[in-house]
Amino acid sequence: MTDLIMGVETSCDETAVAMVEDGKKIISNIVASQIKVHQKYGGVVPEIASRQHMECIIPVIDKALSESGKKLSDLSGIAVTYGPGLVGSLLVGLSVAKAIAYAQNIPLIGVNHLEAHIYANFLEHKGIKTPLICLIVSGGHTSLVYIKDFRKYKLLGQTKDDAAGEVFDKIAKVLDLDYPGGPIIEQLAKEGNSSLIKFPRPLLNDGSYDFSFSGLKTAVIYYIKELKEKNKIIPVKDILSSFQQAVVDVLVEKTLRAALEFKTKQIVLAGGVAANNSLRKKIKEKASLLNIRVFYPSISLCTDNAAMVASAGYYKLKENKKSSLDLDVVSRLTLV
Ligand code: KG4
Ligand code: ZN
Repeated sequence: MTDLIMGVETSCDETAVAMVEDGKKIISNIVASQIKVHQKYGGVVPEIASRQHMECIIPVIDKALSESGKKLSDLSGIAVTYGPGLVGSLLVGLSVAKAIAYAQNIPLIGVNHLEAHIYANFLEHKGIKTPLICLIVSGGHTSLVYIKDFRKYKLLGQTKDDAAGEVFDKIAKVLDLDYPGGPIIEQLAKEGNSSLIKFPRPLLNDGSYDFSFSGLKTAVIYYIKELKEKNKIIPVKDILSSFQQAVVDVLVEKTLRAALEFKTKQIVLAGGVAANNSLRKKIKEKASLLNIRVFYPSISLCTDNAAMVASAGYYKLKENKKSSLDLDVVSRLTLV
């Protein structure tokens, strides 16, 4: 018998609902992005985000159901992100999921958004085996995690300040580029010279698995400011390419070092920044020299979606880790 799980994701600016069978087979996967609404403000406005979720959640559920050809009564459970994220936004998804769980008398499974990002990998790749090292790089988080066994996490290090995605977004804003900055910077960086400007590689050789990107962000902002003050031409593509290279160098170096220390032969990438091709390419190249395999989700499953929530929820349900109907949202939530 198959287990059909509905995943619900409303932690930030995507209203997403998916139907997934047995934690692996995506039957439908609907993402209503609010990016256009927030773009004119240069970033996500929490109040607007929750209102948008309220407007979209029922139509998105209807679409996920109709595309799957299934009914609510076919569900074995409903998995929902309860944190980390924007409280008002999380509440919309959690409330709807609770109502469905109650009405259908099926288990509610609260899912940590960071854990869901990891599970995006299991939707597509069959060959992933523990132990492994996972690099989670999103708009809100940058963490290096040792996964000894499924759902057994050890946090090796994390960012002390800005997350990797956050610096992409902030630098895009300084240069009047659209939100989110990551995909646009990646595009422009392709035509730039990545070794033209030697931006700092923070904490590269400090021996820890922690990250810090705010100093790099300041270095880039000051570089632009100085050129502006001197009325010089700003080589946007070279700056972005050199900046992206600095971020990628630090992420790749620390992740490979962790894989060597913990003697793992597999690495998985997770989160929005894992969509970055420069990061994917460099880590794959360097890892292959060490006989280490690298997995990452396809681009659409790197950024926020509900299929990854349904997948993580399925495995939690297998362990009988159900949530009670008084589950609350948690804005700041770590993996371990
Ligand atoms: O995982 P995600 O969709 O949301 C969070 O959980 O935060 O990640 C969004 C972040 C944004 O900061 C965005 O700029 C970044 O991921 N991002 C990228 C790329 N695509 C998205 N960063 C670098 N390169 C990309 N191609
Ligand atoms: Zn995310």
